[in-house]
Amino acid sequence: MPNASVRLRPDATIGATDKRLFGAFVEHLGRCVYGGLFEPGHPSADARGFRRDVLALVKELAPSIIRYPGGNFVSGYNWEDGVGPVEDRPCRLDLAWRSTETNQFGTNEFIDWCRLTGIEPMLAVNLGTRGGDAARRFVEYCNHPGGTTLSDLRKDHGWPLPHEVKLWCLGNEMDGPWQMQARTAEDYGRVAAETAKMMKWVDPTIELAAAGSSGRNMPTFGTWESTVLDHCFDHVDYMSLHTYINNDADDMPAFLAAPDLMDGFIEEVVAISDAAAAKRRSGKRIMLSFDEWNVWYRTRRTPEDRARPGWPVAPPILEERYSMGDALAFGGMCISLLNHADRVKVACLAQLVNAIAPIMTETGGSAWRQTIFYPFAQFSHFGRGTVLRAEIECPAYDATYYDPRGTQELRFPVTAPYLKLAAVRDDILGGVTLFALNRHLTEPMHLKVDLEGMGLRGIRAARQLCDADLAAANTAAEPDRVRPGLLSGVVLTGSVLRATLAPASWTMIRLGTSG
Ligand code: AHR
Repeated sequence: MPNASVRLRPDATIGATDKRLFGAFVEHLGRCVYGGLFEPGHPSADARGFRRDVLALVKELAPSIIRYPGGNFVSGYNWEDGVGPVEDRPCRLDLAWRSTETNQFGTNEFIDWCRLTGIEPMLAVNLGTRGGDAARRFVEYCNHPGGTTLSDLRKDHGWPLPHEVKLWCLGNEMDGPWQMQARTAEDYGRVAAETAKMMKWVDPTIELAAAGSSGRNMPTFGTWESTVLDHCFDHVDYMSLHTYINNDADDMPAFLAAPDLMDGFIEEVVAISDAAAAKRRSGKRIMLSFDEWNVWYRTRRTPEDRARPGWPVAPPILEERYSMGDALAFGGMCISLLNHADRVKVACLAQLVNAIAPIMTETGGSAWRQTIFYPFAQFSHFGRGTVLRAEIECPAYDATYYDPRGTQELRFPVTAPYLKLAAVRDDILGGVTLFALNRHLTEPMHLKVDLEGMGLRGIRAARQLCDADLAAANTAAEPDRVRPGLLSGVVLTGSVLRATLAPASWTMIRLGTSG
């Protein structure tokens, strides 16, 4: 049985989590919007067509910020198509997902939906088929108080107050050949810099994220970020990162080790960004926006999908059914994000409903939680505070993670400790939450955590997600097949916590300052 020993100290910290670290992503893709969060005529829909059953689950999941409207979709999107009287809005071919976009849901509906849920909106501009002019006009439409044609148009459309959208993405995955009007790094860097200048001239309070390479597995990765920052450094606040991990090789140990590669990816982008600062002798630090992350492999699109006949409205695509094993790898990704809270200030789980999502719905029917819902909800509810630097001693294993995505097949060797863990201190109440992943597939783990000096007196909660069947999943018929249960036997003796983590399990333990 592997033993893991962890040491935490009050003054050994990584940094405070930004509220935006707990975000998600809504794209016009499949049934994410239509038949997901928006479905006029559904028995639970409100007067605006927002599904109340989905809203209830979104509130429980608690994302803090949502990126919209894409994704690949945004590279062909005319924002003007999605505003104004609904009956006048055009139907368009969406080349990203080979669908018909009806534009019944657009920016103003998205803002209303966000306000209803208390979530911050984050918008992306189209730097594929469009550019700086459309982007600056979009900012003016959304954020300018009034007195100009575009801001008064928003008022005429029924939104008298500015939307005050603070965070904007400069395009999406522009190095991907699957992107509408993909660009070279030089080309994108120049367009992004000129666009950023104008957007900030319209509203100097906004923050901007430059599109990073589509992934660490892209041949462009590294050079792309560096070249883009040569152009954009002075104009942007964030560099974006995207990662989807897979179990294509049907190799669970390697799959569960993959979040450690995400740690490496983050550290590489930090290094590239800081090198850009050093070249300029600048004290400015570019922060990271990990604005797409998740597990995704069963429902990837293939080139043949583009050749299929027909242009359906809201087709059921990318409807990944997440298993227990997926939830473990996903939990590992949550831990990676927490442990880089000093530089990753924004992160968006991709996506929110139906398309590679924690929430599933039947069009016209029920809504339920997928397995990955649970680690995310715990991460969002209890991951807010100051992340502590955990010193971990524990045996490790070697694995080779296979990544066939992007434009090349790669194999990454990785040595992964069986325990992956993050510890977050609640800055108001002083309590500490531990998030722990036992990656040993067959053996339980004895966990010992030394919390000396932390002033902790009692266990507030201990919950574990595990199942003997790593393929188990939740469905409409069996929505609660996989859900967290209570973890017994967690003991705090003086300043030492002891617990036994089941094989292949995700655990959350909360400690408080009173007994
Ligand atoms: O989230 C699904 C897709 O994955 C997004 O549209 C794109 O940005 C990424 O390739």
